[in-house]
Amino acid sequence: MNRSEEQVRQAVLGRNPLVYLVSPEEGRMLGMLEAVARDTLGEDAPVYSWSCLGGLALPGATGDTRDPASALRAVLAYPGKGFFVMNDLPDFLDDPAVVRGLREAYLTLAGSGDKIVFVLSPKLVIPESLEKEIYLIHVDPPDENELLDEVVRLQQTFQGEPLADETLSEVAVALKGLTFNEVGHIMHRVFTSGKTAREEILEQIFIEKEMVVKKSGYLEFVPPRFRIEDMGGLGNLKLWLVQRKKVFSRDAVAAGVPIPKGLLIMGMSGCGKSLAAKVVSSLWDVPLFRVDMNLIFSGLYGSPEAAFHHTLKTVEGVAPAILWIDEIENGISAGEGSTAVGTHIFSAFLTWMQEKPPLIFIVATANRIQDLPAEIIRKGRFDQVFFVDLPSSRERQEIWRIHLERQEADPEKFDLEFLGVLSEGWNGAEIEQAVLSARVEAYHEGRQMTMSDVNRVAGTIVPLSKTMEEQMKQIRSWAFGRATPASKYGQRRK
Ligand SMILES: Nc1ncnc2c1ncn2[C@@H]1O[C@H](COP(=O)(O)OP(=O)(O)OP(=O)(O)O)[C@@H](O)[C@H]1O
Ligand SMILES: [Mg+2]
Repeated sequence: MNRSEEQVRQAVLGRNPLVYLVSPEEGRMLGMLEAVARDTLGEDAPVYSWSCLGGLALPGATGDTRDPASALRAVLAYPGKGFFVMNDLPDFLDDPAVVRGLREAYLTLAGSGDKIVFVLSPKLVIPESLEKEIYLIHVDPPDENELLDEVVRLQQTFQGEPLADETLSEVAVALKGLTFNEVGHIMHRVFTSGKTAREEILEQIFIEKEMVVKKSGYLEFVPPRFRIEDMGGLGNLKLWLVQRKKVFSRDAVAAGVPIPKGLLIMGMSGCGKSLAAKVVSSLWDVPLFRVDMNLIFSGLYGSPEAAFHHTLKTVEGVAPAILWIDEIENGISAGEGSTAVGTHIFSAFLTWMQEKPPLIFIVATANRIQDLPAEIIRKGRFDQVFFVDLPSSRERQEIWRIHLERQEADPEKFDLEFLGVLSEGWNGAEIEQAVLSARVEAYHEGRQMTMSDVNRVAGTIVPLSKTMEEQMKQIRSWAFGRATPASKYGQRRK
């Protein structure tokens, strides 16, 4: 039984005659209410539904029950027991007769315990005069067990090859945050296409989640294009991520394994912070959503506080998910130029970090780390704070190899050791840039790129670290002792 079902049961056992269920899922709620009605009021307990189109099909009801006040009157007059579900009633709460009807339902039915009126709606609107009477339940989206049952049920209606048990439970976890209707659409697509490979199915689910967040406007789905092999160096960070790869599995949740909350990656520009956020998603098979703090603060979506709050709620709705807050210091800095709104958002964010549902992982990336308030670094908010420094010589060799391969060159034909030395003080983005330029130049001359192309281009690159030496020193000394080096080679430069 899930938590919401237990809450409904408690409300009924507590003889609350007026229960408000906040949920967009009428079908699922009806199923749940039928089960609770049987359990609490007896096998023969009926569940009646009202809507403004269909009215209320109640034996003995008179008048046009499509009118909500008449429907409530019919419920009050009805002699038998049962659950009475009023769909979309909040749209009619500006009518005093409807509010009065609910009040009377409360007064007349309180204590009887066998007639319960449910208001069911995705919207929450409670008139002030009913605040004390209504028992409010925010219904959770289906949990993994319900999702698993639903997927198995849907699967039985199709002919094809059934999914492996392991795939089924992974699919159930990935579907978390979606409604039964959304699950139905995705799984129909999956089953009719005959897809049985886990990656293909997970991709379909990611696409559906992408559509859900697109409706919110300031969240961007980042497709899982970069694999862990595409990230050079950063050994400690990689190890941390690999060790937690299984953490979003159903088994881990069921076994009560502590689920990591988030990661803060700070440090030098162009060294792979954003890349690391993308890698988490592909490694863990969890969709990644990037929140654009500049859009939040733009005012385009209302007040920044409300927009940020809505972002967090939207992401909660599609869990399991990774929320990537890029350049977090832009939103919530404590440094110069910080605003009251920024500070407000920042404290709301910290509270949320502590209370958020477990299957949301935060990846925050930051450059101007000095601007971050001390509370954010404090243990307990993020599981780990990594500092990304310029790559060491060995790491640079790895990065050269990755980008040469990406540009379809054979790294064995290049002197990687030499390139590692040559690029001392460079960041990953500069290495990438050198390879790209070399390829373009060689292509222009109608040839494959060679070592001498790379060598020539390399001579023209002035690394950022040359021009920003002083700032880099500051960042390094700030990070020392406050953050874990993302690279295995830690402080050993060269
Ligand atoms: N460690 C790395 N391995 C492979 N490629 C890298 C690495 N670091 C950087 N790159 C390349 O440089 C590009 C830019 O890196 P990225 O956007 O991750 O930097 P960043 O640390 O987020 O920088 P900024 O602080 O400017 O946002 C990446 O897309 C990637 O191609
Ligand atoms: Mg970045």
